[in-house]
Amino acid sequence: MSSVEADFDRLALLDDEGWTANNHYHSSLLKFVPENCEDALEIGCGTGAFARELARRCRRVVALDMSAEMIRVARSRSTQFDNLEFQLADAMTWSFPQSHFDFICSIATLHHLGQRELFVKMREALKPGGVLVVLDLVKSNGLVERVLDVIGLGVSGGLRLMHNGRLKPPPEVRKAWEQHGKHDHYSTINQMRALADEILPGSNVNRCLLWRYALVYRKP
Ligand SMILES: C[S@@+](CC[C@H](N)C(=O)[O-])C[C@H]1O[C@@H](n2cnc3c(N)ncnc32)[C@H](O)[C@@H]1O
Repeated sequence: MSSVEADFDRLALLDDEGWTANNHYHSSLLKFVPENCEDALEIGCGTGAFARELARRCRRVVALDMSAEMIRVARSRSTQFDNLEFQLADAMTWSFPQSHFDFICSIATLHHLGQRELFVKMREALKPGGVLVVLDLVKSNGLVERVLDVIGLGVSGGLRLMHNGRLKPPPEVRKAWEQHGKHDHYSTINQMRALADEILPGSNVNRCLLWRYALVYRKP
């Protein structure tokens, strides 16, 4: 088992469905789901909260994750949906159908993967007119982004306090994320924009306050 898989198996058991800097952006990302969406795909679905939102809006949803524990928890929380299929799979070796999906999304996952290769696979898997949305962590660069990080720290503390009743995650969760963070590497916003310009021309890549970028691409 890879260290990433082991980290996420452990983190799956600590997920309490509270506020996170990822689910903070769910409602903004859901605005890009096309009307009459037939088929949607999520890559790195974790415990499935976003996939369940997709299942409320799309006819069929496939959600992948390489952590067996994440998939087990996701399935156990999703029994009311018969249009939502969770697959235990490595996104890098999964066989993407061609021109099949109206919407593809990935949240806080791409930095674990071969981004260039995956952008190509996701683009090819979209139908013409289909939409790809990626939210992922970013490496800050320059004074403006560092100032944003400090503001983000205060804002995320406030939001966590408001939603979860505490300023910081519980110690066991912090410890698990710190352990996981040792293997994490992020790209800068300029690196992501350059890659998107090359592979997903016409896409928008914007910096979000909470240490993330959001990429939106509509296939011509
Ligand atoms: C930080 S979590 C984010 C989970 C979820 N998207 C969220 O926002 O809560 C990253 C997820 O990506 C999954 N992952 C990492 N590498 C993967 C791969 N190669 N294929 C599929 N899933 C992967 C992990 O198991 C983990 O559940």
